[in-house]
Amino acid sequence: MFNSPIDEIKNRLDIVEVIGSYIKLQKAGANYRANCPFHSEKKPSFFVSPNRQIWHCFGCNLGGDVFKFVMKIEGIEFGDALKILAQKAGIELKKENPQIKTQRQRLYEISELACRFFEKQLEKSNTGQQAKKYLLSRGLKEETIKKWRLGYAPDVWESLSNFLIGKGFERKEIVQAGLALKSEKTNNFYDRFRKRIIFPIFDLSSQVIGFGARILETSYNNEDSKDLAKYINTPATLLYDKGRILYGLNFAGQEIRKKDSCILMEGYMDVIIAHQAGFKNTVAVSGTALTSWQLNILKRYSDNLFTAFDMDVAGNNATKRSIDLAQERDFNVKIITMPEDKDPADVISQNPSQWQTIFKNAKTIHDFYFENTLNQFNKNTIEGKKKILKVLLPIIKKIPNKIEQDFWIQDLANVLETKEEFILEELSKVRVFQTGIENFNQTQKEDKEVVPVNKKTRKELLEEYFIALLLKSPKNIGLIKKEYLPFLSPQTLTLINYFEGKEYQNKQLKEFEEKINHLSFRAEFLEIENEKVEIELQNCLQEIKTLNLQTKLNEISKEIKKAEREKNFEMVQKLTKEFYQLCLQKKS
Ligand code: CTP
Ligand code: MN
Repeated sequence: MFNSPIDEIKNRLDIVEVIGSYIKLQKAGANYRANCPFHSEKKPSFFVSPNRQIWHCFGCNLGGDVFKFVMKIEGIEFGDALKILAQKAGIELKKENPQIKTQRQRLYEISELACRFFEKQLEKSNTGQQAKKYLLSRGLKEETIKKWRLGYAPDVWESLSNFLIGKGFERKEIVQAGLALKSEKTNNFYDRFRKRIIFPIFDLSSQVIGFGARILETSYNNEDSKDLAKYINTPATLLYDKGRILYGLNFAGQEIRKKDSCILMEGYMDVIIAHQAGFKNTVAVSGTALTSWQLNILKRYSDNLFTAFDMDVAGNNATKRSIDLAQERDFNVKIITMPEDKDPADVISQNPSQWQTIFKNAKTIHDFYFENTLNQFNKNTIEGKKKILKVLLPIIKKIPNKIEQDFWIQDLANVLETKEEFILEELSKVRVFQTGIENFNQTQKEDKEVVPVNKKTRKELLEEYFIALLLKSPKNIGLIKKEYLPFLSPQTLTLINYFEGKEYQNKQLKEFEEKINHLSFRAEFLEIENEKVEIELQNCLQEIKTLNLQTKLNEISKEIKKAEREKNFEMVQKLTKEFYQLCLQKKS
């Protein structure tokens, strides 16, 4: 019935639902709008049309169908987007030729197989059972272990590698997936994860892309394993980059939207236990400070962040930086403070109602910084006052909102029993940029990767605008003067023919329909009165003409110079004549 799996997928999926699972969409008339996920903006100019099943951003001019969206937002090739969407649509793709599988697809397969291997080890092997007992003793239920697909890596050098080679993978690929390493000394390969509890790390569509591996509690207490890291993780691979992943987001996304808030924790265990206890709007940063990449992802779900890290103001710079970064990105941040020596997993599993109280008492950034600093230093001594200023002034300096800043200043003057003007004077001496600049640069750098380069030329944009104008008011098609036709691209000319009901090749039809569908969507948004379309069309054509002639003039003047260098005066004369003719044409 359908031509291809692509059509079938498009038929089964609603673009609003798919895009809505990545970003927050708001109804706007017949369409939906959002802040564009591909460039940074404050006013939403990203639109999705359920009728046309396409999206377009009027800010950065990107747009297309559901496949294009998934490719862009996940940063993947078409084949991978096809796989993800086929899965969403419940369509089985025909088995592909293994040679044409992308490297990424191979890595997804290895990761999935490794995950199954570890899961099985946890169930079936003797030491796996021991690991499982430990997990149960931490309060995890059977179903939770299944849901998060926890596993066990046996204490053998090459068990996983051998298993994967048996499945037809090469050593090289196993290393690429981060699952094995090559020994410098012996040149032998060995498994990265051994004798550890395995936490698979999922992407947004719950595909396994990496692993966190925790030492067994029992062996951690053991003297000779003291220098082993408590956790080791998959290194950066084609699929996994710790700064771009939030652990648990695949299970938490919907709930974060529903509650319009997200709780950020530090560890795998914290998140799993929180979800098990029903706090499902919870994710973790795995062993890094929060990155702006992660914040960009969270922005699609909610503006309200709660952090539940262990920290103190003076000590934990990583945390401060996280808060800074989140504030810069206009998140409302609140801080959940844990009882001493406990992490969220401890609190929730020991006493869920205590967690609820702690959560309700989450502090504003202001209160958090003030309380912590005042607890740490004595505000009644000069020495103490100075130390308090040293911590708080840089923070105050960075508050973008003046009213909020003023509120802090007043508060600080009260607390230190001094005058506001003195605080202001001290504030003016503060240079905040040590951490600020660092963040700024980091943000800039990462943003560059997100912001698309608009590859369309000015001429292409003008021609698209021209077609959109025609679509808005098709009766104007008769107004196009013949003299302009030579300046239009073949594609635009065929579109004009198509509008006029002239013949077109069947092959081109589908391509046209897509293009016209897209441009019609843009036409809906043209803020122009019908009477003005005509003038606008003429202006647009005139501009296309001028642009064309200018390009030609530039080329000719280059050629003239070349001919002069070569002393080809005949040519110079010929070109100069041509040049003047074009100039006249341009003026007319
Ligand atoms: N982490 C890491 N590498 C380490 C230590 C920690 O990547 N050497 C990351 C892990 O993602 C870990 C998180 O930091 O989940 C928090 O570390 P920690 O509090 O030490 O571990 P918990 O998650 O609390 O583990 P558990 O409760 O099982 O002790
Ligand atoms: Mn813990």
